[in-house]
Amino acid sequence: MSAHICYPYPRMPRTLDPDLRRALAARIRYYHDMGIYDFYWQPVTESQEAPSIKNDASPLADAAIHPPSGDEMTPRKAAAVAASRVVEENIFEVTAAKPEQGIDDPIKALKLIREDLGDCTRCPLHKQGRKQIVFGVGNPHAELMFVGEGPGADEDQQGEPFVGRAGQLLNNMIKAMGIAREDVYIANIVKCRPPGNRTPEREECETCSPFLMRQITAIKPKIIVALGATAAKTLLAMNSSMAQLRGRFYDFKPVGVRSNDPNWNGCQLAVTYHPAFLLRDPRQKGEAWKDLQMVMKELGMKPPNPAT
Ligand code: URA
Repeated sequence: MSAHICYPYPRMPRTLDPDLRRALAARIRYYHDMGIYDFYWQPVTESQEAPSIKNDASPLADAAIHPPSGDEMTPRKAAAVAASRVVEENIFEVTAAKPEQGIDDPIKALKLIREDLGDCTRCPLHKQGRKQIVFGVGNPHAELMFVGEGPGADEDQQGEPFVGRAGQLLNNMIKAMGIAREDVYIANIVKCRPPGNRTPEREECETCSPFLMRQITAIKPKIIVALGATAAKTLLAMNSSMAQLRGRFYDFKPVGVRSNDPNWNGCQLAVTYHPAFLLRDPRQKGEAWKDLQMVMKELGMKPPNPAT
Protein backbone atom coordinates (compact mmCIF):
# COMPACT_ATOMS: atom_id res chain seq x y z
CA MET A 1 0.00 0.00 0.00
CA SER A 2 1.17 3.53 -0.67
CA ALA A 3 0.16 6.99 0.40
CA HIS A 4 0.13 9.97 -1.89
CA ILE A 5 2.09 12.89 -0.58
CA CYS A 6 1.59 16.08 -2.51
CA TYR A 7 4.64 18.26 -2.97
CA PRO A 8 3.49 21.71 -3.84
CA TYR A 9 6.36 23.90 -2.59
CA PRO A 10 9.56 23.34 -4.51
CA ARG A 11 11.56 25.89 -2.50
CA MET A 12 10.50 25.04 1.02
CA PRO A 13 12.66 26.33 3.88
CA ARG A 14 14.66 23.64 5.65
CA THR A 15 13.27 24.42 9.07
CA LEU A 16 10.02 23.00 10.33
CA ASP A 17 7.91 23.93 13.28
CA PRO A 18 8.79 21.32 15.94
CA ASP A 19 5.13 20.69 16.81
CA LEU A 20 4.32 20.17 13.18
CA ARG A 21 7.27 17.86 12.87
CA ARG A 22 6.05 15.79 15.82
CA ALA A 23 2.53 15.64 14.46
CA LEU A 24 3.85 14.46 11.12
CA ALA A 25 6.10 11.87 12.69
CA ALA A 26 3.03 10.57 14.55
CA ARG A 27 1.11 10.46 11.28
CA ILE A 28 3.87 8.49 9.60
CA ARG A 29 3.89 6.04 12.51
CA TYR A 30 0.13 5.77 12.08
CA TYR A 31 0.60 4.95 8.38
CA HIS A 32 3.22 2.38 9.31
CA ASP A 33 0.88 0.77 11.77
CA MET A 34 -1.67 0.49 8.98
CA GLY A 35 0.93 -1.23 6.83
CA ILE A 36 1.68 1.77 4.60
CA TYR A 37 5.39 2.23 4.10
CA ASP A 38 5.92 3.65 0.65
CA PHE A 39 5.42 7.35 0.11
CA TYR A 40 6.00 9.14 -3.11
CA TRP A 41 5.82 12.69 -4.28
CA GLN A 42 2.96 13.76 -6.45
CA PRO A 43 3.61 17.12 -8.08
CA VAL A 44 0.58 19.38 -7.82
CA THR A 45 -0.48 22.32 -9.92
CA GLU A 46 -0.62 25.91 -8.73
CA SER A 47 -4.39 25.63 -8.33
CA GLN A 48 -3.95 22.81 -5.84
CA GLU A 49 -1.67 24.88 -3.65
CA ALA A 50 -3.01 25.91 -0.31
CA PRO A 51 -2.62 29.66 0.03
CA SER A 52 -3.62 29.98 3.65
CA ILE A 53 -0.82 27.92 5.13
CA LYS A 54 2.48 29.68 5.25
CA ASN A 55 5.78 27.88 5.17
CA ASP A 56 6.15 28.32 8.91
CA ALA A 57 2.49 27.52 9.53
CA SER A 58 0.93 26.28 12.74
CA PRO A 59 1.08 22.62 13.75
CA LEU A 60 -0.77 20.03 11.75
CA ALA A 61 -2.94 19.30 14.74
CA ASP A 62 -4.08 22.90 14.71
CA ALA A 63 -4.67 22.78 10.99
CA ALA A 64 -6.82 19.70 11.40
CA ILE A 65 -8.78 20.88 14.41
CA HIS A 66 -9.31 24.43 13.30
CA PRO A 67 -9.57 24.40 9.51
CA PRO A 68 -9.82 27.81 7.94
CA SER A 69 -13.31 28.87 6.95
CA GLY A 70 -14.61 28.40 3.43
CA ASP A 71 -12.95 25.98 1.06
CA GLU A 72 -9.46 27.41 1.51
CA MET A 73 -8.02 24.40 3.26
CA THR A 74 -9.67 21.18 4.32
CA PRO A 75 -8.04 19.22 7.14
CA ARG A 76 -7.10 16.51 4.64
CA LYS A 77 -5.48 19.04 2.36
CA ALA A 78 -3.72 20.66 5.30
CA ALA A 79 -2.31 17.28 6.20
CA ALA A 80 -1.12 16.69 2.65
CA VAL A 81 0.47 20.12 2.42
CA ALA A 82 2.09 19.71 5.79
CA ALA A 83 3.30 16.24 4.88
CA SER A 84 4.93 17.63 1.77
CA ARG A 85 7.19 19.72 3.96
CA VAL A 86 8.26 16.61 5.74
CA VAL A 87 9.63 15.27 2.50
CA GLU A 88 11.83 18.34 2.28
CA GLU A 89 12.87 17.88 5.90
CA ASN A 90 13.80 14.26 5.21
CA ILE A 91 11.66 13.04 8.06
CA PHE A 92 10.95 10.14 5.72
CA GLU A 93 14.35 8.91 6.75
CA VAL A 94 12.29 6.45 8.79
CA THR A 95 11.05 4.84 5.58
CA ALA A 96 14.27 5.01 3.60
CA ALA A 97 16.54 1.99 3.49
CA LYS A 98 19.27 2.16 6.10
CA PRO A 99 22.77 0.75 5.60
CA GLU A 100 22.33 -1.55 8.60
CA GLN A 101 19.00 -2.93 7.38
CA GLY A 102 19.03 -6.72 7.18
CA ILE A 103 22.22 -6.95 9.29
CA ASP A 104 21.54 -9.14 12.31
CA ASP A 105 24.88 -8.67 14.02
CA PRO A 106 24.46 -5.63 16.31
CA ILE A 107 28.22 -4.94 16.28
CA LYS A 108 28.20 -4.58 12.50
CA ALA A 109 24.91 -2.67 12.55
CA LEU A 110 26.18 -0.18 15.13
CA LYS A 111 29.34 0.34 13.09
CA LEU A 112 27.26 1.14 10.01
CA ILE A 113 25.04 3.53 11.97
CA ARG A 114 28.14 5.28 13.32
CA GLU A 115 29.53 5.57 9.80
CA ASP A 116 26.23 6.96 8.55
CA LEU A 117 26.26 9.56 11.33
CA GLY A 118 29.68 10.66 10.10
CA ASP A 119 30.99 14.01 11.25
CA CYS A 120 27.41 15.09 11.76
CA THR A 121 26.35 18.66 10.98
CA ARG A 122 22.59 17.99 10.99
CA CYS A 123 21.76 20.29 13.90
CA PRO A 124 23.23 23.48 15.38
CA LEU A 125 25.06 21.59 18.13
CA HIS A 126 27.83 20.70 15.68
CA LYS A 127 29.00 24.31 15.67
CA GLN A 128 28.45 25.11 19.32
CA GLY A 129 31.72 23.93 20.74
CA ARG A 130 31.48 20.14 20.62
CA LYS A 131 34.84 18.41 20.62
CA GLN A 132 33.48 15.12 19.35
CA ILE A 133 30.36 13.07 18.79
CA VAL A 134 29.50 10.78 21.71
CA PHE A 135 27.86 7.81 20.02
CA GLY A 136 27.23 5.30 22.79
CA VAL A 137 29.07 2.62 24.69
CA GLY A 138 28.60 -0.86 26.08
CA ASN A 139 27.44 -4.32 25.20
CA PRO A 140 25.89 -4.41 21.71
CA HIS A 141 23.93 -7.50 22.86
CA ALA A 142 22.70 -5.82 26.06
CA GLU A 143 19.30 -6.69 27.46
CA LEU A 144 19.31 -3.41 29.34
CA MET A 145 19.97 0.01 27.91
CA PHE A 146 20.20 3.39 29.62
CA VAL A 147 19.43 6.57 27.72
CA GLY A 148 20.46 9.97 29.07
CA GLU A 149 20.05 13.47 27.75
CA GLY A 150 23.31 14.52 26.14
CA PRO A 151 27.05 14.60 26.75
CA GLY A 152 28.53 16.97 29.31
CA ALA A 153 32.05 18.38 29.37
CA ASP A 154 33.71 15.12 30.50
CA GLU A 155 31.81 13.06 27.96
CA ASP A 156 32.71 15.52 25.21
CA GLN A 157 36.37 15.26 26.20
CA GLN A 158 36.43 11.47 26.40
CA GLY A 159 33.92 10.59 23.68
CA GLU A 160 31.96 8.30 26.00
CA PRO A 161 28.57 8.82 27.68
CA PHE A 162 28.27 9.13 31.45
CA VAL A 163 31.92 9.32 32.48
CA GLY A 164 31.68 12.40 34.72
CA ARG A 165 30.12 12.72 38.19
CA ALA A 166 26.68 11.70 36.98
CA GLY A 167 28.35 8.77 35.26
CA GLN A 168 29.97 7.64 38.51
CA LEU A 169 26.55 7.60 40.13
CA LEU A 170 25.07 5.74 37.16
CA ASN A 171 27.86 3.17 37.49
CA ASN A 172 26.95 2.74 41.16
CA MET A 173 23.27 2.35 40.30
CA ILE A 174 24.15 -0.33 37.73
CA LYS A 175 26.42 -2.04 40.26
CA ALA A 176 23.63 -1.99 42.85
CA MET A 177 21.57 -3.99 40.36
CA GLY A 178 24.23 -6.69 40.47
CA ILE A 179 25.63 -6.06 37.00
CA ALA A 180 28.50 -4.06 35.50
CA ARG A 181 28.57 -1.04 33.23
CA GLU A 182 30.04 -3.28 30.52
CA ASP A 183 26.90 -5.45 30.58
CA VAL A 184 24.56 -2.66 29.50
CA TYR A 185 24.49 -0.20 26.63
CA ILE A 186 24.52 3.52 27.39
CA ALA A 187 23.60 6.31 24.99
CA ASN A 188 22.04 9.75 24.92
CA ILE A 189 19.23 11.50 23.10
CA VAL A 190 21.71 13.95 21.53
CA LYS A 191 25.22 12.95 20.66
CA CYS A 192 26.86 16.37 20.87
CA ARG A 193 27.40 18.44 23.97
CA PRO A 194 24.93 21.31 24.31
CA PRO A 195 26.88 24.45 25.23
CA GLY A 196 27.01 25.12 28.96
CA ASN A 197 25.24 21.80 29.51
CA ARG A 198 21.93 23.37 28.61
CA THR A 199 18.97 21.11 27.94
CA PRO A 200 18.94 20.17 24.25
CA GLU A 201 16.28 21.91 22.19
CA ARG A 202 13.41 19.77 21.03
CA GLU A 203 14.51 20.22 17.42
CA GLU A 204 18.00 19.01 18.32
CA CYS A 205 16.50 15.97 20.05
CA GLU A 206 14.32 15.22 17.05
CA THR A 207 17.17 15.59 14.59
CA CYS A 208 19.48 13.31 16.57
CA SER A 209 17.10 10.71 18.01
CA PRO A 210 16.58 8.79 14.73
CA PHE A 211 20.16 7.58 15.17
CA LEU A 212 19.37 6.48 18.72
CA MET A 213 16.27 4.71 17.39
CA ARG A 214 18.49 2.84 14.95
CA GLN A 215 20.92 1.93 17.75
CA ILE A 216 18.01 0.57 19.77
CA THR A 217 16.74 -1.34 16.74
CA ALA A 218 20.20 -2.90 16.30
CA ILE A 219 20.72 -3.77 19.97
CA LYS A 220 17.15 -4.93 20.66
CA PRO A 221 17.31 -4.45 24.45
CA LYS A 222 14.56 -6.00 26.52
CA ILE A 223 14.36 -2.89 28.66
CA ILE A 224 15.31 0.73 28.19
CA VAL A 225 15.66 3.00 31.20
CA ALA A 226 15.12 6.64 30.27
CA LEU A 227 17.18 8.80 32.59
CA GLY A 228 15.37 12.05 33.24
CA ALA A 229 12.67 14.06 31.57
CA THR A 230 14.41 14.83 28.27
CA ALA A 231 15.08 11.17 27.52
CA ALA A 232 11.63 10.08 28.68
CA LYS A 233 9.71 12.74 26.81
CA THR A 234 11.68 12.30 23.60
CA LEU A 235 11.47 8.52 23.55
CA LEU A 236 7.82 8.38 24.55
CA ALA A 237 6.77 11.50 22.64
CA MET A 238 4.87 12.51 25.77
CA ASN A 239 4.94 15.76 27.64
CA SER A 240 4.02 14.51 31.10
CA SER A 241 5.83 15.22 34.35
CA MET A 242 8.37 12.81 35.82
CA ALA A 243 5.87 11.98 38.56
CA GLN A 244 3.39 10.89 35.91
CA LEU A 245 5.94 9.05 33.78
CA ARG A 246 7.67 6.98 36.48
CA GLY A 247 6.47 3.78 38.11
CA ARG A 248 5.29 1.77 35.11
CA PHE A 249 6.49 0.17 31.89
CA TYR A 250 5.69 1.43 28.42
CA ASP A 251 5.67 -0.77 25.32
CA PHE A 252 8.39 0.77 23.23
CA LYS A 253 9.03 0.38 19.54
CA PRO A 254 11.68 2.55 17.91
CA VAL A 255 10.45 4.85 15.18
CA GLY A 256 11.19 3.09 11.89
CA VAL A 257 10.39 -0.43 13.12
CA ARG A 258 7.23 -1.84 11.58
CA SER A 259 4.64 -3.16 14.00
CA ASN A 260 4.73 -6.56 12.27
CA ASP A 261 8.54 -6.72 12.01
CA PRO A 262 9.46 -10.33 12.88
CA ASN A 263 12.93 -9.19 13.97
CA TRP A 264 11.56 -6.93 16.66
CA ASN A 265 10.92 -8.81 19.89
CA GLY A 266 9.35 -5.98 21.84
CA CYS A 267 10.86 -3.74 24.46
CA GLN A 268 9.71 -2.19 27.70
CA LEU A 269 10.65 1.32 28.69
CA ALA A 270 10.88 2.58 32.25
CA VAL A 271 11.55 6.12 33.42
CA THR A 272 13.70 7.14 36.35
CA TYR A 273 15.47 10.22 37.61
CA HIS A 274 18.60 11.45 35.89
CA PRO A 275 21.73 10.77 37.99
CA ALA A 276 22.64 14.49 37.80
CA PHE A 277 19.30 15.26 39.43
CA LEU A 278 19.99 12.63 42.11
CA LEU A 279 23.33 14.32 42.82
CA ARG A 280 21.43 17.55 43.42
CA ASP A 281 18.66 15.90 45.43
CA PRO A 282 19.98 12.65 46.98
CA ARG A 283 16.70 12.19 48.90
CA GLN A 284 15.20 10.90 45.63
CA LYS A 285 17.69 8.04 45.38
CA GLY A 286 15.23 5.71 47.14
CA GLU A 287 12.65 6.45 44.46
CA ALA A 288 15.18 5.77 41.71
CA TRP A 289 16.07 2.49 43.40
CA LYS A 290 12.38 1.52 43.31
CA ASP A 291 12.40 2.14 39.55
CA LEU A 292 15.48 -0.01 39.11
CA GLN A 293 14.00 -2.78 41.24
CA MET A 294 10.97 -2.79 38.95
CA VAL A 295 13.37 -3.22 36.03
CA MET A 296 15.30 -5.98 37.78
CA LYS A 297 12.10 -7.89 38.51
CA GLU A 298 11.08 -7.67 34.86
CA LEU A 299 14.49 -8.98 33.78
CA GLY A 300 14.42 -11.73 36.41
CA MET A 301 17.46 -10.28 38.17
CA LYS A 302 18.19 -10.71 41.85
CA PRO A 303 19.84 -7.90 43.80
CA PRO A 304 23.43 -8.78 44.77
CA ASN A 305 24.13 -10.22 48.17
CA PRO A 306 24.91 -7.19 50.42
CA ALA A 307 27.79 -9.17 51.94
CA THR A 308 29.50 -9.26 48.55
N1 URA B 1 24.34 13.50 31.36
C1 URA B 1 23.75 12.88 30.33
O1 URA B 1 22.54 12.98 30.13
N2 URA B 1 24.50 12.12 29.54
C2 URA B 1 25.79 11.99 29.71
O2 URA B 1 26.42 11.27 28.92
C3 URA B 1 26.39 12.65 30.79
C4 URA B 1 25.65 13.41 31.59
